[in-house]
Amino acid sequence: MTPEGNLRMTDSLFRRKPIVPEPQEGGQALARTLGWPHLIALGVGAIVGTGILTLIGVGADKAGPAVILSFAIAGLICACAALAYAEMATMIPASGSAYTYSYVVIGELLAWIVGWSLILEYSLVVSAVAVGWSGYAAPLLEAWAGFPMALMQGPELGGIVNLPAIAIIAVVAGLLLVGTRESATLNAILVLVKIVALVVFVAVALPAFNAANLEPFSPYGFAKHVGPDGVERGVMAAAAIIFFAFYGFDAIATAAEEAKNPDRDLKIGIVGSMFACVLIYVAVAVAAVGAIVYTRFANSPEPLALILRELGSPLAAQYLAVSAIIALPTVILAFFYGQSRIFFTMARDGLLPAGLAKLSARGTPVRITIFTALVVAVLAGFIPLGELAALANAGTLAAFTAVSVCMLIMRRRAPDAPRTFRTPLPWAVGGIAVFGCIYLFFSLPLQTQLWFLVWNVGGLGVYFLYARSRAIIA
Ligand code: ALA
Repeated sequence: MTPEGNLRMTDSLFRRKPIVPEPQEGGQALARTLGWPHLIALGVGAIVGTGILTLIGVGADKAGPAVILSFAIAGLICACAALAYAEMATMIPASGSAYTYSYVVIGELLAWIVGWSLILEYSLVVSAVAVGWSGYAAPLLEAWAGFPMALMQGPELGGIVNLPAIAIIAVVAGLLLVGTRESATLNAILVLVKIVALVVFVAVALPAFNAANLEPFSPYGFAKHVGPDGVERGVMAAAAIIFFAFYGFDAIATAAEEAKNPDRDLKIGIVGSMFACVLIYVAVAVAAVGAIVYTRFANSPEPLALILRELGSPLAAQYLAVSAIIALPTVILAFFYGQSRIFFTMARDGLLPAGLAKLSARGTPVRITIFTALVVAVLAGFIPLGELAALANAGTLAAFTAVSVCMLIMRRRAPDAPRTFRTPLPWAVGGIAVFGCIYLFFSLPLQTQLWFLVWNVGGLGVYFLYARSRAIIA
């Protein structure tokens, strides 16, 4: 290639979207129906889920009582990324979150990788939480309706297919098709249910705190390493999985274009829901690890309910299990919603087929919703929870790294541009977010890192064969 050709190519790979996105012609702008209470409910609804209810056991298996430290580390990194997100979301209040910020700030190629990673994140979170939900629902369905366990677990656990996970995805997809507003209000009610359940857990478990349960505190050390049984363990290996419990606030940012007052409400939604969740989680983790020896609930499909039963509170355990069954669908809803908006935005930018972005009379991207439902239902039916969560984390970590880099670049490039929210100590906070996310990524199982690579190599194929030449800004 001539130097001239080279230059053109570089230019187009890093071409950027204008900072103020114009709504497209032909009714392709989303309706502004969401206020800040909807957004906070969307945030908490997306954050509190399978991570704290189920993966806390996986984390304890990897880190021992030091899983408390894993929660603190993952929470700190996620909170720093949330601050960068809030700044970018108020600077660029447009649909698409990390994908859109990257498109505006860094350029198309990276934006594509981020968007492709977000699709992975949102899809796999929907699948993972559906599997987590099924973990709580299956024992009740078996006891009450005699439903065979083989049809309620994936092949990894000796079953054939996880039908409850598929069913809950179908239900949530239906809610989304009915329209944003109704489903966001229902979401707000269900958020209350799960917060009350976690408060009940802490109220019962914390009085049973026994410092002896914290000894030895960190049996597997700090950095990720492969143990004699072939399992990757350590405080960071646990943090890389526990990270799943903390994100979801980014689902708010994807709703920017539907917020009535994005400047103020996105900030309240992201920062408020993130910090509320960090507080709740650390309380739950301390209560859980202090209440019984961690090995008794490590890797349980319903660790918090198990702890309550072991403490002699079967009623509280049942209450928690039923709350999980009722409320976990809010997480699925929020990520499903985010997924359809990422698709919508990428299609509107010309990078994905425009037919996918077609809105119904109610303003819902129907085709994307149905297409996503089919794909994530198949994954939820057959793939185990741990693998889904780890790969979802990989996609999220890529997006969070990009957003934090975007925040820092914009501080340099346009220090005086209007931002209704400014990250405090931006270089420290941004630095922790960037390096923390990268460290967490490399603390994920090696197999997960490889799958993530495969996903993005495939994505780049789609970019160069399809998307690049069709981009609206080309
Ligand atoms: N943070 C969400 C959960 O834990 C994804 O389920």
